Amino acid sequence: MLSCKDLLSIHDLTVEEVEEILTFAQELKAMQRAGIEHHLLEGKTLGMIFEKSSTRTRVSFETGMYQLGGQALFLSNRDLQIGRGEPIKDTARVLSRYLDGIMIRTFEHEKVEEFAHYADIPVINALTDLLHPCQALTDLLTIREHKGQNLKGLKMAYIGDGNNMSHSLMFACAKTGIDFVAATPKGYEPNTDILVNAKADAAETGATITVTNDVTEAAKNADILYTDVWASMGQESEHDKRMKIFREYQINADILKLADKRAMVLHCLPAHRGEEITDDVLEAHADEIFDEAENRLHTQKAIMALLMGDHHHH
Ligand code: CP
Ligand code: NVA
Repeated sequence: MLSCKDLLSIHDLTVEEVEEILTFAQELKAMQRAGIEHHLLEGKTLGMIFEKSSTRTRVSFETGMYQLGGQALFLSNRDLQIGRGEPIKDTARVLSRYLDGIMIRTFEHEKVEEFAHYADIPVINALTDLLHPCQALTDLLTIREHKGQNLKGLKMAYIGDGNNMSHSLMFACAKTGIDFVAATPKGYEPNTDILVNAKADAAETGATITVTNDVTEAAKNADILYTDVWASMGQESEHDKRMKIFREYQINADILKLADKRAMVLHCLPAHRGEEITDDVLEAHADEIFDEAENRLHTQKAIMALLMGDHHHH
């Protein structure tokens, strides 16, 4: 059972709740592998509002709900009245009367916060311009599978844009004791409010949080190298400009040499080969990267069961 109604940010979870989600996700993954039925959300419906594209998020939430014995509704803003200007606060109250939970992917983080404020049902952040918590929790699960249950003292180097992924990874590392270093070009550093909150979280676990413009410093002895696209959804018009600015912030064979010999490479996907990651590095680490993609399913099933279930875990 989580103490919050919604999952909007990893910052809102306690250290123990992060641990609970990961352990429960591992149990659900094992049950699915063994063919053991786990209809924890029988008869329940999840609404899924998308104002941006998605492959992984849509399919993993939708199949995850099915595997939990419930159903999911894909709601595009092209079809919803929200797309024609119906207020969020009205949509939130109406959908609360039909649904048992809702997942939202949108631009402004404030929209998800407003939605959650007016909704009586759990609201899950499925990516905003500011945060992508479901992905970062998934990344923790994937690191546990490859590096062992105790994450304390590992080093993650995030190389690229100080974007939604960098923010959620910062919180994820802070909550689990992973030393986090972000290397970004000047002017593309992570949000300072997020940094302050992540440092407060890190004080609880002993993690260190560092922001630098120096890729070498970040990659040195890293146990996990992480990157994400240089131009996120909504930044399409900045694409060409960003390609020049980010050129050195790429995960490639040279950067990998600086990291620990057994270093993992993770990417939330979709990847742009030749931009933030080279094809050879992605393919050499495909096992880890596609485990990571699969784990969206298991992690989100745990989140949904914990937030939407009648019989909470344990
Ligand atoms: N990583 C991720 O969220 O992928 P999608 O945009 O395909 O959902
Ligand atoms: N930073 C990327 C993540 C995609 C999963 C974006 O927001 O487009």
